[in-house]
Amino acid sequence: MGSEGGKWLSLPFLIAFIAATLYLLQTLISPRLMLGHEVVKIKRKPDLPLRFGSDGTFKILQVADMHYAKGKMTRCRDVLPSEFEYCSDLNTTRFIRRMIEVEKPDFLVFTGDNIFGPSTADAAESLLGAFGPAIESRLPWAAILGNHDQESTMTREELMSFISLMDYSVSQINPPGIATENIDGYGNYNLQVHGAFGSDLANTSVLDLFFLDSGDRATLNGIRGYGWIKESQLHWLRSIYEVFQQGNKYDQNGLNSIASPTKAAQPHSPALTFFHIPIPEVRQLWFKDIVGQFQEAVACSVVNSGVLQTLSAMGNVKAVFMGHDHNNDFCGELEGIWFCYGGGFGYHAYGKAGWPRRSRVVLVELAKGLRSWMGVERIKTWKRLDDENLSRIDEQVLWDQRLLK
Ligand SMILES: *[C@@H]1O[C@H](CO)[C@@H](O)[C@H](O)[C@H]1NC(C)=O
Ligand SMILES: *[C@@H]1O[C@H](CO)[C@@H](O)[C@H](O)[C@H]1NC(C)=O
Ligand SMILES: *[C@@H]1O[C@H](CO)[C@@H](O)[C@H](O)[C@H]1NC(C)=O
Repeated sequence: MGSEGGKWLSLPFLIAFIAATLYLLQTLISPRLMLGHEVVKIKRKPDLPLRFGSDGTFKILQVADMHYAKGKMTRCRDVLPSEFEYCSDLNTTRFIRRMIEVEKPDFLVFTGDNIFGPSTADAAESLLGAFGPAIESRLPWAAILGNHDQESTMTREELMSFISLMDYSVSQINPPGIATENIDGYGNYNLQVHGAFGSDLANTSVLDLFFLDSGDRATLNGIRGYGWIKESQLHWLRSIYEVFQQGNKYDQNGLNSIASPTKAAQPHSPALTFFHIPIPEVRQLWFKDIVGQFQEAVACSVVNSGVLQTLSAMGNVKAVFMGHDHNNDFCGELEGIWFCYGGGFGYHAYGKAGWPRRSRVVLVELAKGLRSWMGVERIKTWKRLDDENLSRIDEQVLWDQRLLK
């Protein structure tokens, strides 16, 4: 054992040496290099941290339910008969490119059912096709999983691992510092957006983004239904909330690396949350004023795990962005938090023929101080339709700090 230990000890160093050499070559020479016949490719990383622009805004494009499969081989669903013949996954690709061109977002978020497992025999290839436009845009992007992503050749863990390694992706498998077995699902993470360059808050997080895995399918008392966000995930969120309350990075459990790789977040930075499957309370919005359309039943679990109470107790969550029900594209308010659907984006996903595929934009704006940009002042949203003019509809203010005073 002892003498073998010495030999094995050098292996990690050898690997580290090779990795460092490759990295050096990559940065000095070219992003791709040949080793024998293999192309060694190293992940291209976006500039981090995420931060507000010099115009004091941070714009997020939400892409919900692409249902991407095999590119031009995959037919569209629920389009008009006149549109069917020349319609494939490539129309989904085209729609993302057009949205990026017209909106010039700072960040892209894919809220699940990014690929449609039953229509593909190679999850990796579908992921590359689905996220291709994001990668070619060189914008930072994040993704979470829906209930269909794992229905082909990769498990949910493999999918999140692959997605986290794709170019310009800032997606994470799970929060650093938490063992995989201590949190349910894959794709629970927190990203922080810093203030504008040159401002007093340039090195401080002024906006928090939370991503949660809402699971896939689950059978309860013999009835097949959808997954839900589990207590372990809410526990993680609450542990960050406790961190905020204490105003520093440490909580009683010693989970000191979960909140922030940089400076501690400001206690009351507003937060946005993203997950795929809605929570049961979204059904109540049928009886309330909403912006947008409520055209199909909310397909979620009967289990109420207390997501709304947790988000509401955190105090800083202003809005939640979901997918899953493609024919719903509304925003409605529950306990002071807006719940917004993205509306179906992908052409291989079910939809309504004649009701254009759509995408949501979220614009977060900073307050202007005397000398420089300050913290977040207002959060707005609107949608665009995939029609000839990319029609902009349903603009609304989700939160405005000035209206609270
Ligand atoms: C799909 O894209 C093709 C060309 O790329 C276009 O001619 C066609 O109108 C698009 N179909 C839909 C439904 O957007
Ligand atoms: C932010 O960090 C950079 C680099 O460390 C430093 O030059 C700059 O002065 C800092 N800005 C503020 C407002 O703290
Ligand atoms: C697009 O804009 C043009 C010019 O304003 C208008 O004539 C046309 O009807 C619009 N198309 C759609 C689908 O809204």
